[in-house]
Amino acid sequence: PPDISLANLKAHLSQFQTIANNNGGTRAHGRPGYRASLDYVKGRLDAVGYTTTIQSFTYNGATGYNLIADWPGGDPNQVLMSGSHLDSVTAGPGINDNGSGSAAVLEVALAVARENLQPSKHLRFGWWGAEELGLIGSNYYTSNLGATERAKIKGYLNYDMVGSPNPGYFTYDGDGSSGSGGPAGSAEIENTFRAYFTSINVPVRDTAFDGRSDYGGFIRYGIAAGGMFTGAEGIKSSAQAQLWGGTAGQAFDRCYHRSCDTTANINDPALDRHGDALAYTVWTLAGAGQPPG
Ligand code: PHE
Ligand code: ZN
Ligand code: ZN
Ligand code: ZN
Ligand code: CA
Repeated sequence: PPDISLANLKAHLSQFQTIANNNGGTRAHGRPGYRASLDYVKGRLDAVGYTTTIQSFTYNGATGYNLIADWPGGDPNQVLMSGSHLDSVTAGPGINDNGSGSAAVLEVALAVARENLQPSKHLRFGWWGAEELGLIGSNYYTSNLGATERAKIKGYLNYDMVGSPNPGYFTYDGDGSSGSGGPAGSAEIENTFRAYFTSINVPVRDTAFDGRSDYGGFIRYGIAAGGMFTGAEGIKSSAQAQLWGGTAGQAFDRCYHRSCDTTANINDPALDRHGDALAYTVWTLAGAGQPPG
């Protein structure tokens, strides 16, 4: 798998920050900064050969949008999907929540194109609208797919907050080792993320797989899922600070849902590692790639 460039990830975050600055300080559902964020991501994907689709929905009297990007090729009956929510709260620009996940998913999609990866599975990427209002966009996507299309999705990888300034390294507990676990196949996803972090000697701990982000609509339909998270309003314990460094007694993200969730609110090593971890997991789970002939 490629080493995802931290500079490229941060360039996407700068774009999201500029979009917020130019649109009243926010990229929230129903605000022009949301649509501008979507147009930025779509433009990058269209330029490298993705088939992109904008899915519209209405919520709270405003039009919302999901962006779906398909990489041509692979088995159409075996889809590996990765996704992140692209909306912020109204209070701020949403750079860690969730410019970070959106940048990682975008940069991995661009790396697929750069390497002309031709895996056995079909690769799909999604950027969700209106997550902050209750997982609206992702639930709209999964519930409108229909049973036949849903059954083709063999795995969903979710990234929501992967650059927290006082980070933890949490994986959704797909195997149920510390909770109820996820649909069949979720353990393999968790273990693939874990294998990457083991390879770079960064310890990982479970976090609840309880539906607090956009994987919720996927697991409700029995689709295997997983993902990573570096922490939100929760307080880092002294044991966690021993494990990961950073500051005990402080939130993982002190700017969670606040106006200070700017490009300054990012831990660079955490963001870089999560880009690399998603690339590793996509490459591993997508099946052997064929080099271009
Ligand atoms: N979904 C939450 C938000 O966007 C963040 C979160 C992600 C919380 C994953 C817990 C686990 O605000
Ligand atoms: Zn890297
Ligand atoms: Zn979020
Ligand atoms: Zn949020
Ligand atoms: Ca686990």
